[in-house]
Amino acid sequence: MPKTERWMLDPNHPNPDLIAQAATMLQLGQLVAFPTETVYGLGAAALNADAVQGIFTAKGRPSTNPLIVHVADIAMARSLVVNWSDIAEQLAAQFWPGPLTLIFNKHSSVPDMTTASGSTVAIRVPANSIALELIRTFGGPIAAPSANRSGHLSPTTAEHVLEDLEGRIDAILDGGPCSGGLESTVLDLTSSPPRILRPGLVSLVQLQSIIGDIVMSNLDSPGNSPALSPGLQLRHYAPKTALECAQDSAEADFLVNLYETAGLKVARYGIVLDPAEAAMKLYADLHELDRQGWDRIIVVLPPDEPAWAAIHDRLLRASAEEE
Ligand code: TXA
Ligand code: MG
Repeated sequence: MPKTERWMLDPNHPNPDLIAQAATMLQLGQLVAFPTETVYGLGAAALNADAVQGIFTAKGRPSTNPLIVHVADIAMARSLVVNWSDIAEQLAAQFWPGPLTLIFNKHSSVPDMTTASGSTVAIRVPANSIALELIRTFGGPIAAPSANRSGHLSPTTAEHVLEDLEGRIDAILDGGPCSGGLESTVLDLTSSPPRILRPGLVSLVQLQSIIGDIVMSNLDSPGNSPALSPGLQLRHYAPKTALECAQDSAEADFLVNLYETAGLKVARYGIVLDPAEAAMKLYADLHELDRQGWDRIIVVLPPDEPAWAAIHDRLLRASAEEE
């Protein structure tokens, strides 16, 4: 078991000595968690299969679930793919650095371990200076899933990461809370038209302003079959406490009353009115509710509208039954 080093960094001026130490750890094949603008990632050298294997072990992640590779710029992304396209160029120019993950056919330099033996690779440029300095100083791509044990909530603070992974990873760069709070949008560019596999902080409407023709995988559609995106099984992103969604506040009242009558301690979680603020708070609040020890969490679903797609998706997954 490694001792987990925790280093505090100012996201506006990351200390270059600490970044250099973390980059050296990555060169040695070790695991370093770092902040991104969405959630914390658990990083390893993406082109080193043994190092990447360590991510799967630390998270308890099924080896069938591929990783997102984090790069510093378009040039680094292009070195990992065989089919960089005009569409990719336009999307990258508009949204990178930022919470958009693009899926391409992979270059042979990307190990099977990173892509779970698939022929495609997921890539993004994170909009966080600690993450970017780490990639640049390391000098290559960093594979990083969310820095939580498999199936748990994604971490939006260093404390969340340590709760799940202390003693299982070599270091964490603590840059404070993540500004976005919800994972990136995953867009598959190998299918035609491009398909959103996971809604996220970049919305369908934003993507459509750059490329008109896009399809959205619904939660229950075949697009979410294990073959297409192995990590996107229905139950995911779940707190430890049972969570149930209500369509409106009357249904929430009914459910709260029902469970309280049965003797359960019920938390009613209200989503704030602004989607970006709601995203930033959601996981942090669910982590906190888990700590408080309720028997059940009741959430009123936000409107079924494009701006709320990512939050809708995560709440439905969080409330899904175990498979
Ligand atoms: O915001 C994010 O995306 C964060 C930060 C750390 O970048 N990362 C993240 O990684 O959420 P992870 O591993 O927790 O979720 C990545 C999702 C998984 O559902 C995985 O199955 C899917 O992306 N994915 C990765 N590579 C893929 C591929 N080649 N084809 C289809 N789906 C892929
Ligand atoms: Mg994850």
